[in-house]
Amino acid sequence: MDLLEPGNPDQIAADLRAAFEQRYGAPAAVVGRAPGRVNLIGEHTDYNRGLVLPLALPHATYAAAAPRTNGRVRVASLQSDATWEGTPVDAGPGGPQGWTAYAAGVLWALGEAGVDVPGVDLLVDGRVPLGAGLSSSAALECSVAVAVLALAGRDLDADARQLVVDACIRAETEVAGAPTGGMDQTVSVLAEAGTALLVDFDSDETRPVALDLDGLTLLVTDTRVSHELVDGGYAARRADCEAAAAELGVPSLRQADLGEVDRIPDQRVRARARHVVTEIDRVRPVAEALAAGDRDTVERLFALSHASMRDDFEISCDELDAAVAVAVEAGAVGARMTGGGFGGSSVALVPDERVEAVMRAIDTEFALRGFAAPAHLRAEPSAGAG
Ligand code: ADP
Ligand code: GAL
Repeated sequence: MDLLEPGNPDQIAADLRAAFEQRYGAPAAVVGRAPGRVNLIGEHTDYNRGLVLPLALPHATYAAAAPRTNGRVRVASLQSDATWEGTPVDAGPGGPQGWTAYAAGVLWALGEAGVDVPGVDLLVDGRVPLGAGLSSSAALECSVAVAVLALAGRDLDADARQLVVDACIRAETEVAGAPTGGMDQTVSVLAEAGTALLVDFDSDETRPVALDLDGLTLLVTDTRVSHELVDGGYAARRADCEAAAAELGVPSLRQADLGEVDRIPDQRVRARARHVVTEIDRVRPVAEALAAGDRDTVERLFALSHASMRDDFEISCDELDAAVAVAVEAGAVGARMTGGGFGGSSVALVPDERVEAVMRAIDTEFALRGFAAPAHLRAEPSAGAG
């Protein structure tokens, strides 16, 4: 059984400082840290001005940084051999490629937001599995941003946190070219320990929701089917949602009503919109049920959400369907796929005494069906970036 541990933050930071000094020949001045996330409900709703309910994982990305006097930037990762060097201005759209677009792009976006970005050496180390639908990309961006803001002498107050969120969204969409919504960066920066974050992308309000998890574990299973958000599936879903809103004459699907959605002539566009509109309506009830320990409601709405992503939005896959079905059979209160889809992870609410059995049942099913061995992790609601 593969259980991914978040590691000890102090130890990870100390090891990263040592690796930094070895690589660049001088000590790091700061280490930024930003978590990955798991979304509990509200999938593909953020870019439709809907609601989401993610929480920050204990698994995070760490970015060690030191200022340079020549105004130049160097980025490197312990997870990749590719590096990038240039100035913060060079780090904009069309500049850094591959993973370095997420990291260096943040420096460009902070500069665009008026931050006096210094030359900097950066080395990152991630504990969020890559491409698992748990937002390793947002964790990478946000860890770099908080490290660079610290070098620029800014406190991480509420205004600075919002600046980080906005800059990291720009890095992801404009430099890395992934047309995502803002959920991942928002929760990675604004999450509070012990809570999930209810975000309304119409009013931009955020509210921590304390979860009653007494006797329950949030178990995440990475199917190891790697999704790539810069590939076409996500963008195609987003385009269908925009087409649906245009057809209905509303600014976004947040303003659409289900009766009208049912009259959209194109069958595919109609199904996509139906997912979004019904999913938005599930978010507040799930938040209330999780806060109150109402297991029946969580079970019912997780099941409806998963079916909606599988049948109407068509972003699930055999491995995700299997992980969800087996988790429930083996005793989970509820389970659903989470994140952008096309692979990635599922999340299940599991009574503590059933966690081992659920993990084992999923592993067995995956082996029987010839799927790659999955990895599991415990999603203890954790604090945002710092
Ligand atoms: P997710 O954010 O769900 O993990 P994405 O496909 O959006 O999936 O982002 C994953 C990509 O982010 C990786 O392919 C890589 O380019 C980049 N990335 C994330 N963390 C790191 C890291 N620690 N080092 C290098 N690249 C990283
Ligand atoms: C990705 C994306 C988010 C959100 C999610 C689906 O993780 O980055 O913005 O759209 O998929 O809910």
